[in-house]
Amino acid sequence: MNQDRKTIIAGNWKMHLNVHQSSLLLHRLHENIRVHRDIEVVLAPSMLSLQPLSLELDHRKFKLASQDAYFKDEGGYTGEVSFAMLGEMVQYGIIGHSARRIYFGETLEMVRDKVQAAVRCGIAPIICVGETKQERDAGETKQVLHDQITTALQNLTSRDIEGIVVAYEPVWAISTFDGVIARPDDVEKSIAFIRMQIRELYGQKASERVRVLYGGSVNEHDVRGYLEIPGVDGALVGAASLNYHQFAAIVDAAYQLRLKA
Ligand code: PGA
Repeated sequence: MNQDRKTIIAGNWKMHLNVHQSSLLLHRLHENIRVHRDIEVVLAPSMLSLQPLSLELDHRKFKLASQDAYFKDEGGYTGEVSFAMLGEMVQYGIIGHSARRIYFGETLEMVRDKVQAAVRCGIAPIICVGETKQERDAGETKQVLHDQITTALQNLTSRDIEGIVVAYEPVWAISTFDGVIARPDDVEKSIAFIRMQIRELYGQKASERVRVLYGGSVNEHDVRGYLEIPGVDGALVGAASLNYHQFAAIVDAAYQLRLKA
């Protein structure tokens, strides 16, 4: 973990919790999580809960992220919400989550367009990348990461790049897919590869400034092991973020680690 970059602990609530339940969880998180200067806690509730939560939350404690949004700013795109519409509500936008790529057919180019839209609207993208089990078994991990990174980061300036976050989430490790626990040394290789790709595209400084998260079945017991991997700046947490005890314990583990370092 790089001490110059703030650690991010982000909770992806996926399609769980209605507005009332989201608000209750937020309340519990307020009670159980302290403000830590070096740690950003980001909550990604459903689109429906973003606005009520943005009015309720203590902005010193939590930031908000959308789980997705459309890349056009406005128009006849029935059913969609744009980053432009979310601009005042969220600081981050998750883009290209494997659920979007796999269930909703999101292509590399769509992810790229969404990244550009987020940047244009002043929202920091959390770009999810990662290989499926099949791709991993076929020895294609690096190729997949290369394609996902180079496409997602097209047409950005090195300044833009410094504000983005990349989340390495091997699909096979995500609880909603296979949920296999990834070994930290496997994760380390992919994280190093991601930073190398960014260095080749945008130079050393950008590759050092970008924050890279790990995601995939992270819980309060194993988060420390992932946060200790060189080049990892935080975690994207799904299932465990729906339980306030677990999520608070994850934030606390990140805090303890910063204290120690
Ligand atoms: P998980 O989800 O922690 O439940 O595996 C992570 C994610 O999908 O972002």
